[in-house]
Amino acid sequence: ALERTLSIIKPDAVAKNVIGEIYTRFEKAGLRIIAAKMKHLSRKEAEGFYAVHRERPFFNALVEFMVSGPVMIQVLEGEGAVLKNRELMGATNPKDAAPGTIRADFAASIDANAVHGSDALETAKVEIAYFFADTEISPR
Ligand code: CMP
Repeated sequence: ALERTLSIIKPDAVAKNVIGEIYTRFEKAGLRIIAAKMKHLSRKEAEGFYAVHRERPFFNALVEFMVSGPVMIQVLEGEGAVLKNRELMGATNPKDAAPGTIRADFAASIDANAVHGSDALETAKVEIAYFFADTEISPR
């Protein structure tokens, strides 16, 4: 089915100047960028976005990292977009990420892991609405 998912290019990958290379991977896989914004997240925004991880031991480090520089946030649309994006990203820990995935190629550690992608369709709806108003999304 045609799906939408939220993607974030994290501060490490923005600093590495690989937004375009990552966008090319989305496009080559048939995912369409239907909304995008670059943003330097506030602590409140990062904490709210990752609220489900609040009790995890890595929460503070995660928030600290996500506010360390600008991120590029996009909505991707395509057939099976949620899973397709997760396949393109590779495993959360770049050490476990398959060769040729975004994290294998661009990520340095489980914290600085280059990209975020929604883990399920329901999560995607919530995450998209967290960053984009309906009027900011431009489907074909
Ligand atoms: P992301 O997909 O953005 O979702 C939460 C982030 O927490 C994850 O990517 C990692 O960058 C980070 N993180 C740090 N340590 C862990 C861990 N042990 N398990 C899962 N995520 C972690």
